Amino acid sequence: MRSGVFIPGKVILAGEHAVVYGKPALAASLRLGVVVVAGEGNSSRENELVRKAITVAGGSEEIGVRIESELPVGAGLGSSAAVAAAIIQAVREYVGKPIGQDELFELTMKCERLAHGNPSGIDPATVVYGGLIVYTKGQPFERLAIKRPLKVLLVNTGKPQESTKEMVELVAKNPDKERLVEEIGELTKKIRQELIEGQEIGEFLDQNGRLLEELQVVGERARGLSRELRGMGAKVKITGAGGRGKGSGMMIALSPDLAKIKRWLDNKQITYLETKIGKV
Ligand code: MEV
Repeated sequence: MRSGVFIPGKVILAGEHAVVYGKPALAASLRLGVVVVAGEGNSSRENELVRKAITVAGGSEEIGVRIESELPVGAGLGSSAAVAAAIIQAVREYVGKPIGQDELFELTMKCERLAHGNPSGIDPATVVYGGLIVYTKGQPFERLAIKRPLKVLLVNTGKPQESTKEMVELVAKNPDKERLVEEIGELTKKIRQELIEGQEIGEFLDQNGRLLEELQVVGERARGLSRELRGMGAKVKITGAGGRGKGSGMMIALSPDLAKIKRWLDNKQITYLETKIGKV
């Protein structure tokens, strides 16, 4: 076994789900991520995603991988894309054919199609290229340089019962989809502008959160948590595909008084991560 390949997780600030329909989305890589080491082994014993990633990288069955992840699975932090990208890069390095970022993006997309059905590509793009990006399906992405890094809490609303694929399918059937996708797209453009100008994005982010609730990708538990956090002055929105039946993954919370929010979460024994966006 050799030294590992690190690939970060991601957080979507605005535009998830609408991005599947050609609207822009805003996402950032995290400092948390996965490390993969490739070496001699037996990939036939691995799960489907791992085998697929080894295969698309051109690796044989005699290759094995060791995966260490700091990302909660199914939390909306890009775990599946990060694991796939790290495996592909690690296998390619192991077989002596290092891979460039564009090819890594394409091959990670292939793995995402297995997990997702109809992925927009935002997860692979964010974890492979890193930084803060505006992503529109099928277009070159835009890298944003922002004046002030944004301090956020990622509050754990619980593991979703549904897969990303299932959530994307539920949205496809929503009768209000067209209007909501349009409105989310407009908000994403406003958030992009506010970030560039160094303005507060809380209000628009919160509106995006409410539209995701209307889109029915936020379950009762996360909606209850949103009400509580909003009552304490925070601006909130779930990040990633969401979840309807049980948890909805991670929820972004912005507040001028994050210490107060953290004390409340600690009291309720609700877990969270604290991170800065716009600072790689
Ligand atoms: C998942 O992180 C983001 C979604 O918009 C799906 C996708 O864009 O592929 C829900």
